[in-house]
Amino acid sequence: MADAADREDQGVVSLVILGANGDLARRKLIPALFSLHCKGRLPEHINIIGFSRTPFTDDEFRDSMWDSAVELAEVDRPREMYEEFAKRLCYVTGDLGDSEGISRLADRLDQLESTDRPINRLFYLSIAPALYAQAVEALGAAGLASEDSGWRRLVVEKPFGSDLNSALELDLIVRGVFDETQVFRIDHYLGKETVQNLMVLRFANSIFEPIWNQNYVKNIQITVAEEVDVGSRAGYYDRSGVIRDMLQNHLLQLLTIVAMEPPATVDAESLRNRKVDVLRSIRRLSPDDVHTETVAGQYDGYLDQDGVAGGSHTATYAAVRLFVDNWRWKGVPFYLRTGKAMERKVSEVVVEFQTPPHFIFADGVTNPDPPPNVLAICIQPDEGAHLRFQVKVPDRGMEMRSATMEFHYESEFSGQAIPEAYERLLQDAIKGDASLFIRGDQIEESWRIVDPINQAWESNDGSGPLRYAPGSMGPAAADALLAQAGDHWLVGCGPHEDDPEA
Ligand code: BG6
Repeated sequence: MADAADREDQGVVSLVILGANGDLARRKLIPALFSLHCKGRLPEHINIIGFSRTPFTDDEFRDSMWDSAVELAEVDRPREMYEEFAKRLCYVTGDLGDSEGISRLADRLDQLESTDRPINRLFYLSIAPALYAQAVEALGAAGLASEDSGWRRLVVEKPFGSDLNSALELDLIVRGVFDETQVFRIDHYLGKETVQNLMVLRFANSIFEPIWNQNYVKNIQITVAEEVDVGSRAGYYDRSGVIRDMLQNHLLQLLTIVAMEPPATVDAESLRNRKVDVLRSIRRLSPDDVHTETVAGQYDGYLDQDGVAGGSHTATYAAVRLFVDNWRWKGVPFYLRTGKAMERKVSEVVVEFQTPPHFIFADGVTNPDPPPNVLAICIQPDEGAHLRFQVKVPDRGMEMRSATMEFHYESEFSGQAIPEAYERLLQDAIKGDASLFIRGDQIEESWRIVDPINQAWESNDGSGPLRYAPGSMGPAAADALLAQAGDHWLVGCGPHEDDPEA
């Protein structure tokens, strides 16, 4: 949280949103900035400059952002607050490929920044990934990235590349203009409160650490299921697919936090060093492994959506079994699954523990094979954590069943809204704290893990993804993937049944 001294120390900050008329700026960035403004957490001297091809005057841009900015804001007097916020907004019309547009942006910055305070600039690439290289080169050529006064930073949205080679090529271009310490690669999952809480659960408590390893954990399940289908993003999605859209970034990031060793401190480098260790330890899949360790799915009706190529083999669902070959996790399967058009929206990490080594209650017990202890960490929508264990049913001999201890954000922190991930990320980028951003080496390792999956799935061997019904939890083959090792998908944050999912 920025206190008054922090806000003053930040000098003048110019936050330039390239692609300011796009969906991300409108739905996430401007609302998050407005919310930070309402909480008094923006630097005292900040200019927010929108840049895109749509011709707008400053006032038209301000008006066009009003609806989305206030929609999420839970503030009194939203009109007055927005008018105050809007004084910080301005707009430059231009195309990244046109040097005149970029020099208009440079002139506008000079005009806004005429001050003897340090001048700092943060460039946010809220544009199509295909334009990242062009944007970075244009900023470099116009001298906008040089740190002659204050700092210069670049925020890059995912996906960074579409495979290892394209990520390396893009990185080369980015590094030609910005130093790694100036680059803030976003994975918005890291900005989620509940994802940061995963670190707190693990590293601010002592009860989990002794059992957080292959001696006690049977498997770990990470689910990010979405109820929505690809909708209006079908054109983008059909070229990208579920692995690039979700698994290479959000799910692998969740896995690294669950599996990492405790860092010495939570500074950006210690944290990211430990995370990249995990990615390096993930066993690489051979083309044959892809057949046995992964399941690709596509929901019925996907091919009929506007923007999807006829006969497309793009997967909208993935289930993958990964192993982290290190001392802590040797032999423990990490099951990852994610998809569109699924039964319900849920993001969760479920840790299934081993059953007791010897069960002493065999005689007269109705269930001699008790369900395992399960810790479910619910990222969304019912944020919290649930711990399931066996209890004795009263007055029924030694009959037992599962009971759950539950922590819900809603009741524990009643009245306190959970902020949008982008608030935290924008605030950290302005402060220069990179701990919740992805370092270049993490991106590379992530592509090394998923490239073999994409290559095998896209090899056109005729198989294509398996069909699944919209509103289901994916193809049945994903259940079989777990059944091979005697595992099944567990309900983490949903209704707590002892039984596996129906
Ligand atoms: C984005 C993906 O990164 O994350 C989208 O591109 C997906 O396809 C979204 O819908 C999910 O984010 P959240 O925060 O709604 O879980």
